[in-house]
Amino acid sequence: MSSWIDFYNTIKADEWPDCQNEDDFDLLPEEIKSECINNYNYVPGSFNLKSQISNLLETNKSFCVLPFVHLYVNETNDIAYCCHAKFLKKHTPNFDFIEDDDYNDVRTKMKQGTKVPKFCNTCYEVEKHNGESYRMLATKEWLTKLQTSDVDKIDSKLVYYDVRNDSLCNLNCRMCDPKSSTQLQKEYKEIGIPFNINYNKSKLNEIVNYDTVEKIYIAGGEPTIMPEVSKLLTKCIENNRTDLDLTLLTNGTNVNSKFESLLRQLTNVNLTLSIDGYDEVNRYIRWPSDWKTITNNIEKLKQITPRICVNVTVSILNITRLYELVKFLESVLPNPPTILLNECMVGINDYYVPFNFPNNNLALDKLSLLKETYSYKNEDYFKNKVDYFLNVFQQNTSNIDTLRNFFIFNDKLDNHRGIYLRDVIPELEQFRKLTNE
Ligand SMILES: C[S@@+](CC[C@H](N)C(=O)[O-])C[C@H]1O[C@@H](n2cnc3c(N)ncnc32)[C@H](O)[C@@H]1O
Ligand code: SF4
Repeated sequence: MSSWIDFYNTIKADEWPDCQNEDDFDLLPEEIKSECINNYNYVPGSFNLKSQISNLLETNKSFCVLPFVHLYVNETNDIAYCCHAKFLKKHTPNFDFIEDDDYNDVRTKMKQGTKVPKFCNTCYEVEKHNGESYRMLATKEWLTKLQTSDVDKIDSKLVYYDVRNDSLCNLNCRMCDPKSSTQLQKEYKEIGIPFNINYNKSKLNEIVNYDTVEKIYIAGGEPTIMPEVSKLLTKCIENNRTDLDLTLLTNGTNVNSKFESLLRQLTNVNLTLSIDGYDEVNRYIRWPSDWKTITNNIEKLKQITPRICVNVTVSILNITRLYELVKFLESVLPNPPTILLNECMVGINDYYVPFNFPNNNLALDKLSLLKETYSYKNEDYFKNKVDYFLNVFQQNTSNIDTLRNFFIFNDKLDNHRGIYLRDVIPELEQFRKLTNE
């Protein structure tokens, strides 16, 4: 939502008074104010600040808040400015977030507006097609928390961690990296697909400073089965840090009672469910997940927190199937639904990138259906992502060699799993013939 009035009118119940101006928020009854803040994450004054932050992002195309507040360490102990940036170096016990020369160099460049394509090109590419990049999203989120749009007032303070310490996972999602899934590692070995992992579990709990941490983003692997994540939740409770923003990604297949009871003791849990298709399409992509279990678990997770969103990783496999998924999600998610369209990334598993889909007209037709959804009409971020996909497909020419390689790779998984593209996504299968010409 870009304005106070759009935001307020969307969440407003019939009996709530009108409030045209954000400056009048304080005049609302206490229970409405607290609902806005606690259930809809409203930060008082943020819409005025929002336009100043947008201005900053427009005028300074390099500045990103993440190197000032955030540490990313992956399953193999690589440090990066964020999960989308190129790796910088290995994490060691001597790493000093405040004094590190590489961090300070990039911070200076960003404040000056000097781009750092070596690390941040993924964001620049998204912005080139008018998309909203992670740089923009994260900067909006954290400058709102810091209540400033003045880069000179931003000091370095490590308060936000994304530490991926384990690849233990119960699924074999096609587009995922074996670095993130023990099941994929096992399957790749069985099929004979080479992969290279210099595996070295980082100690999530030793990296996080519980006195200063404000946000922890947990992915993996599958957090609901990772022992180190249970330890981390226990430590948050022991250290009286049940208030921190815990954002946890999960594939939604496993809501066990131990994990559920730990989560219930925290007061600021944000869950992001990864779902990539409706029913059989999800099972095909996120093998071998069971749709009934996931839909039951959505209901269980709603009892733990109202702050649930869905991350849809958009790939060559589901680019034609997003509409039915979004309509379903809008019917089951807490209102207003938050659906994040996450582009399948080059560099993780290149076979599945969405723009490898071989027919622009079909992709554009199917993507255009999304314009009819609630999310497109009401959620700026969702609309921006759909427009970005449409924009790239309007200019896109897919590459036959890349498409051929996709079929070769995907067939290996199909044959091993005994489930076939032709039966689940025939509209993609029909273009196999292009690769034989
Ligand atoms: C690696 S998973 C780990 C957390 C958890 N297991 C899950 O699936 O939500 C984190 C997110 O990355 C997404 N993802 C997987 N492969 C990807 C790719 N090639 N490009 C971009 N995102 C990807 C997943 O769909 C999921 O939303
Ligand atoms: S559940 Fe998450 S970590 Fe596991 S294979 Fe799927 S995307 Fe990767």
